[in-house]
Amino acid sequence: MTRPKGTLIRNSTGTRLNHWLTAACFVLLVLSGLSMFHPLLFWMSALFGGGQWTRAIHPWIGLVLAVSYAAMIVQFLRDNLWSKDDIAWARTIDKVLANEEEGVPEVARFNAGQKMVFWSMTLLIPVLLVTGIFVWDYYFESLTSIETQRYALLIHSLAAIAAIIIWITHVYAAIWVRGSMRAMTQGYVTPGWAWRHHRKWFRSLAATGSAGPRPGKAADETHK
Ligand code: HEM
Repeated sequence: MTRPKGTLIRNSTGTRLNHWLTAACFVLLVLSGLSMFHPLLFWMSALFGGGQWTRAIHPWIGLVLAVSYAAMIVQFLRDNLWSKDDIAWARTIDKVLANEEEGVPEVARFNAGQKMVFWSMTLLIPVLLVTGIFVWDYYFESLTSIETQRYALLIHSLAAIAAIIIWITHVYAAIWVRGSMRAMTQGYVTPGWAWRHHRKWFRSLAATGSAGPRPGKAADETHK
């Protein structure tokens, strides 16, 4: 895909495909999961061909999500490592939410909010995977007791609720910060966007004359 001259690469094609596969699996899991969560939501199972199909397909989509998110961890881990600047940024969250830049510390490739999304999902997805396997009766019923399954399902449901809340926050932020959506759909951002929202990242690119990060490398370390 061609990007307009002068713009910066934010996410490569592979990263974007990986992200949207994860997102599609997540949405399907939310719909199928909620339809099994409460009878009032059972009508949503019609989207998957009925209750039995929903129950059969949900764990398989979960496996695809887990593998897909593992690939995201590999690509995003370095840029999501916590730094002392993140606390200073988080303290100015009221200004960030009001779209004011004055007094907000400079941010590298990801801000503290984005890092929270990354780390929350990195914790919750393995919990969902393990507890999900515990209650995947078709294959693993004989390996677990009913009591274990009850606890596993409770933890699975609580982790799913937490992941849904994180996901809603993530989508809200992606819409709120104008220009972010294009970073994940078309893969590029304008220098103005980078200057405004990720100034440290912008400076590191400008210092090396690079248009964007190499996959798997921390953006700030790409050209060291
Ligand atoms: C379906 C709705 C979703 C939308 C509209 C969306 C939107 C976006 C956008 C626009 C970015 C780019 C941010 C940037 O480059 O600064 C992004 C990054 C990211 N997304 Fe999503 N996303 C969605 C679902 C998900 C899901 C379900 C997950 C995880 C399970 C996820 C995890 C991430 C991660 C880890 C990043 C990299 C930034 C970070 O480390 O926080 N996204 N998303």
